[in-house]
Amino acid sequence: MSKALDGVRILDFTHVQSGPTCTQLLAWFGADVIKVERAGAGDITREQLRDIPDVDSLYFTMLNHNKRSVTIDTKNPEGKLVLEALIQKCDVLVENFAPGALDRMGFTWERIQELNPRMIVASVKGFGPGPYEDCKVYENVAQCAGGAASTTGFDDGPPVVSGAQIGDSGTGLHLALGIVTALYQRTLTGRGQKVLAAMQDGVLNLCRVKLRDQQRLERTGTMKEYPQYPNGTFGEAVPRAGNASGGGQPGWILKCKGWETDPNAYIYFITQAPVWAKICNVIGKEEWATDPNYATPAARLPHLKDIFAEIERWTMTKTKFEAMQILNKYDIPCGPILSMKEIAEEPSLRKTGTIVEVDHPTRGKYLTVGNPIKLSDSPTEVKRSPLLGEHTDEVMTELGYSPEQISALRTAGAI
Ligand code: COA
Repeated sequence: MSKALDGVRILDFTHVQSGPTCTQLLAWFGADVIKVERAGAGDITREQLRDIPDVDSLYFTMLNHNKRSVTIDTKNPEGKLVLEALIQKCDVLVENFAPGALDRMGFTWERIQELNPRMIVASVKGFGPGPYEDCKVYENVAQCAGGAASTTGFDDGPPVVSGAQIGDSGTGLHLALGIVTALYQRTLTGRGQKVLAAMQDGVLNLCRVKLRDQQRLERTGTMKEYPQYPNGTFGEAVPRAGNASGGGQPGWILKCKGWETDPNAYIYFITQAPVWAKICNVIGKEEWATDPNYATPAARLPHLKDIFAEIERWTMTKTKFEAMQILNKYDIPCGPILSMKEIAEEPSLRKTGTIVEVDHPTRGKYLTVGNPIKLSDSPTEVKRSPLLGEHTDEVMTELGYSPEQISALRTAGAI
């Protein structure tokens, strides 16, 4: 069966997490992703957080499926010529080096355009143009600079970063969209273009609702769905909202049976207005359905804390799965807090290919997250990540180098 990006060749100069997430998605959609790495070392994540000595880490293997790996010294003059040949053959160059690194290698936008005017050059950087554009950036820096950390956590505690890698993987997703969009535009214009996804911008895009709240706060001085209302105080900036829902339907995380020993025995409970009467019935507070102090969303806002405390008295008598089953019968929106262990063992996620078991020649079997985006005409087959330089000879041959030339380049340290 054909794949959506069949025939698209990606020169993958990415490393660590943000860029590799992007090119892995493109590979899953069928692009031929050629990852260029430094001989001997490769992507630094190959050796980071290793759980098995001398074997590519899960950090690396889980971000580099379906790619080919070639090792080229891009600072070696002959290595540069190999890279030029690759630039001429590929459709997209993706990189997430520190600012200026590609230029320092001699591959400026102008030079790349000379070599291949159809080339799309896609970059992840920490910041867009401005005071911080030259800074190196990692995940949590982006979460802090993009507004996520200041709005995450509880009011009486410090800013908190999220387990979701919204700075790295989130920006990789943004970049992938930019690339396929540029590829589409190229079919009309015949020209390549630059694509930039700055991590601060990507995080801020995901924190859009908090910029919404900043403006609401400035206009009205309060936000009734925040836990700070009605007894706490609001300052000048959007405060940390704990586990409040962030939308128009109040929600909170509540304890379930077993919470004393299981750190994940909790459920997210949403007091959605249309099912309020059903919620009252389930928790045994039928009178709240008609009591003017509780019957309408506006009436409930001043005492949400007490309402959730009452609901929690009920959820604490059920496991999170029992509560989920009962609440779903009445269309009450809720969700169990699932641990990574529970997610890894969930059969339905295995069935859809969202969790996949992969076999690797040196590591053996491991679990990974498959393609979260499902296309009906372009199914994803998750293939193991490449060993360092595994495809150097293969790719060099495709570029037209003879076995003798390959051997000479190897001796010269260019590949
Ligand atoms: N051959 C020769 N040299 C190579 C090479 C190759 N195949 N591949 C990379 N290099 C060189 C680069 O040219 C660069 O050299 P220079 O500094 O002399 O110009 C050098 O390796 C290191 O690259 P750099 O990107 O600076 O790596 P780093 O480990 O110092 O920084 C980051 C890592 C992630 C902080 C930085 O790359 C960055 O800020 N990236 C943009 C934002 C980003 O994506 N962050 C999230 C990562 S998950």
